[in-house]
Amino acid sequence: MTAPLMSLTWTDHVTGRQGFLVVDRLVRGVSSGGLRMREGCTLDEVAGLARGMTMKEALHYNPEGRYIPLGGAKGGIDCDPQDPGSYGLLVRYLRAMKPYIETFWTTGEDLGLTQDLVDRAAAEAGLVSSIQAVYPLLDNEATARRRLADAFAIEVDGIGLDELAGGCGVAESALAALDRAGVPYEGTRVAVQGLGTMGGATARFLARAGLTVVAVADIKGTIANPAGLDVEALLAARDAYGTVDRAALRSGDRELPGDAWLSAEAEVLVPAAVSYAIDITNQERITARWIVEAANMPVLPEAEQLLAARGVTVLPDVVVNSGTNAWWWWTLFGDIDADADEAFAHTRRSMRALVEQMLTRAEADGTTPRTAAHAIVADRLPVIAERFGWYR
Ligand SMILES: NC(=O)c1ccc[n+]([C@@H]2O[C@H](COP(=O)([O-])OP(=O)(O)OC[C@H]3O[C@@H](n4cnc5c(N)ncnc54)[C@H](O)[C@@H]3O)[C@@H](O)[C@H]2O)c1
Repeated sequence: MTAPLMSLTWTDHVTGRQGFLVVDRLVRGVSSGGLRMREGCTLDEVAGLARGMTMKEALHYNPEGRYIPLGGAKGGIDCDPQDPGSYGLLVRYLRAMKPYIETFWTTGEDLGLTQDLVDRAAAEAGLVSSIQAVYPLLDNEATARRRLADAFAIEVDGIGLDELAGGCGVAESALAALDRAGVPYEGTRVAVQGLGTMGGATARFLARAGLTVVAVADIKGTIANPAGLDVEALLAARDAYGTVDRAALRSGDRELPGDAWLSAEAEVLVPAAVSYAIDITNQERITARWIVEAANMPVLPEAEQLLAARGVTVLPDVVVNSGTNAWWWWTLFGDIDADADEAFAHTRRSMRALVEQMLTRAEADGTTPRTAAHAIVADRLPVIAERFGWYR
């Protein structure tokens, strides 16, 4: 892995707050990576996430597909998304980043932001779209943009397709690992940290597959029920930030501290909120057999070593949560139509193939799945660079 192509720190002239952009790599002159907003966000964090995006793009490289991988990038703003001044800050950040977004950085929602908010702020900042840099790579821009807009308009049982594709991929990764281990879905318990875009959709797909969701945590704490939570009721009771209205809890549901999800009696843990959630100290409390990284960088490397040593398998973010990004591009480039069933089927097929490939390689090389995923990326990046080049 090389150093990032470009990294910058922006300082807001109004509040003094900082924002970051890291472009890890370009492919055909373009990079892809969401924008997060959280208090305490750092350039290092954004650089790690940008590198992860390069990997996610490379992992979905299909020589026969219409979607050709882009490079990886990420944006970050150091501010609490619930701060009253956060929207103005977002608009000013996007104004400052306009030249990059117009030419080589395609972006979208990530932690702390919704796509609606990014779209609204991007329009206010004078941008055509948060992904306009990719338009010159499309065969028929008008058709492609219409297809993506149509896909964004689709809702499935109260949740937008764009907010479901990623969680569909996370859930399918978990199911693929269970299948490989011969573990039935019924009776398998899940605990999730975060019930926003990723955590919410993952919980829905796992519950619908027959697993029992026994704990979910949001910013206010953990909600637990060993007999199983009513996932759909909790999803319907969320606000725009993924916080659950506690009035929706049923009689058997209990309210526990924020970190209780971690030690819930469950076979599968899904960290789907913040980075660095699992460290060397709190990993000791984990009794699960699998950790499925819906969030980006939730497990610290030293913690993963200790977990691996006691037989806990971490399915890594670069594979597991890559479905959202891939779905945007499959839809825009025309690998799939604006259709929920087609989107879920394609996501499931692709994620399963990727997870299988990763776990097979990990077994063959005697490594963790993450090391295996990185090895697959290392094989692919030169192939992509050779075929498409860094610059248009
Ligand atoms: N949204 C995407 O398309 C996408 C794609 C790939 C990866 N991710 C990653 O998934 C993670 C979550 O992103 P999202 O878009 O779902 O975020 P979101 O803002 O939609 O939801 C975040 C959820 O986490 C909860 N939360 C926040 N801080 C918490 C804490 N300290 N303890 C417990 N819960 C907490 C919030 O209450 C909310 O329920 C991030 O790491 C992000 O980088 C997101």
